[in-house]
Amino acid sequence: MSHTRSSREAPNPAVRAVYDELGALLDRGDDVFVEEGPPLLEDAIERDGFFEGVTSDSAPPDEYTREKVIGDPGEHVIRFMEWPPEYTLMPHEHHGRPCFEVLVEGHLVLSDMKQTRVGDNEFTFDVIDSTVAQPGESAVVDPRKNEIHAVYSPVRSRSLHVYPEDDWRAYGYVHKKEENNTDIYERREFQLREPENGPDNQ
Ligand SMILES: [Fe+2]
Repeated sequence: MSHTRSSREAPNPAVRAVYDELGALLDRGDDVFVEEGPPLLEDAIERDGFFEGVTSDSAPPDEYTREKVIGDPGEHVIRFMEWPPEYTLMPHEHHGRPCFEVLVEGHLVLSDMKQTRVGDNEFTFDVIDSTVAQPGESAVVDPRKNEIHAVYSPVRSRSLHVYPEDDWRAYGYVHKKEENNTDIYERREFQLREPENGPDNQ
């Protein structure tokens, strides 16, 4: 099992403070977490010292990276993602739980997608809403409103993501074929990028 820099070193006090505050929100439920969490993290990253020892892994041209910033065993997690230019993350969903991100650098487009079942494990998608996040701004995935979403980074971007649990599996929709000018996708379980030596969710 590999150990990343961030899991070896204790998180800095500013990171620990906001992590614990986010945990207190989660104790009050997913709705409170997704409503009150984003402004909490937006404020936290403006504080002196927040980024001390907090780094993202450089993203290669064809894949994003997801460095763990902090996450106690079995608890929520903050990950620092880096997105290469012109990268699209397929439509996917996270087991009915909410999550949110605060953009640190670049631009990130988060699109809510509506699926229509058109066959046996065959779906088409419509984009029902898109959020363009600028640095310092947040975007949320709230399963009460919509669950399936896709991410696009027009330029190299870095963002902090908060998940209520560190579950790196999700359901993704993979492009299967085109029929009558319509793109058809199939649903598959996939991993939100598994580290080479196994999940670093210890
Ligand atoms: Fe997601």
